[in-house]
Amino acid sequence: MQTVQDAAGLRATIRGWRSQGQTVGFVPTMGNLHAGHHSLVKLARARADRVIASVFVNPTQFGPNEDFDRYPRTLAQDQAGLAEFGCDLLFAPDVATIYPFGAAGSVSLHVPEITDTLEGAHRPGHFDGVATVVCKLFNLVQPDIAIFGQKDFQQLKVIERMVRDLALPVKVMGAPTQRADDGLALSSRNQYLSSEERAESVQIYQTLQQMRDLIAKGHARKVVEQAAASKLERAGFVPDYVAIRRAEDLSEPADGEHDGLVALIAARLGATRLIDNLLFD
Ligand code: PAF
Repeated sequence: MQTVQDAAGLRATIRGWRSQGQTVGFVPTMGNLHAGHHSLVKLARARADRVIASVFVNPTQFGPNEDFDRYPRTLAQDQAGLAEFGCDLLFAPDVATIYPFGAAGSVSLHVPEITDTLEGAHRPGHFDGVATVVCKLFNLVQPDIAIFGQKDFQQLKVIERMVRDLALPVKVMGAPTQRADDGLALSSRNQYLSSEERAESVQIYQTLQQMRDLIAKGHARKVVEQAAASKLERAGFVPDYVAIRRAEDLSEPADGEHDGLVALIAARLGATRLIDNLLFD
């Protein structure tokens, strides 16, 4: 597997592949890769002739009190994992390659409406940073297909909407959340959990499953959301949101609506913020 840091090197390699009529699959990441990311690479491998992954800890998607400086940089380990799972090229740019005018001087994309809620409401500006960097990466890589984990469900929806709105020539695909044996969604943040917190953390997925089952039995959405939030609070979590939404656009479903729903939770356990979701179908 080749690793390139600059746009010219990236483009030269892709030009070579394109001249042979090969398709390109792309997996954007912020590094510190785990089995969840590797599953995205495997999916890209199955869908395209060539696979590119990027590792770039994007400063513009972190809020002032978030963990940008603390975010683990593990490039050598990431390279080994990507090579093992069939990635052809790792793009690991520095900040100046992605933000030639600095982060503050950059064009910034805002995807309206769908970013007003859930993560967007709790992390102001986060999705502007995500949309901006993903658009820049798409312009650099020009992939045929790009794969994103469904664990960051709202992020996937924001990117789908940006791609459609800007008519970007890339197919965006969501990949199923990878889970530990007890159900905890794999995340780089899980490593911050103490052993007691790790044992408690499984309650997020269990709560999502209970929410799905209660809605299927006909319970009212708001009652189910409130009961789930209270249960998590009693277990020591501090929930940011516990919500049932339409999976298509994250709007609020009407009473009695059952089809195409998703339950989403973001909650702090100690110093760690965990997010997860469950599609009801
Ligand atoms: O999901 C992530 O790792 C990041 O938000 C992404 C999509 C790579 C953009 O920085």
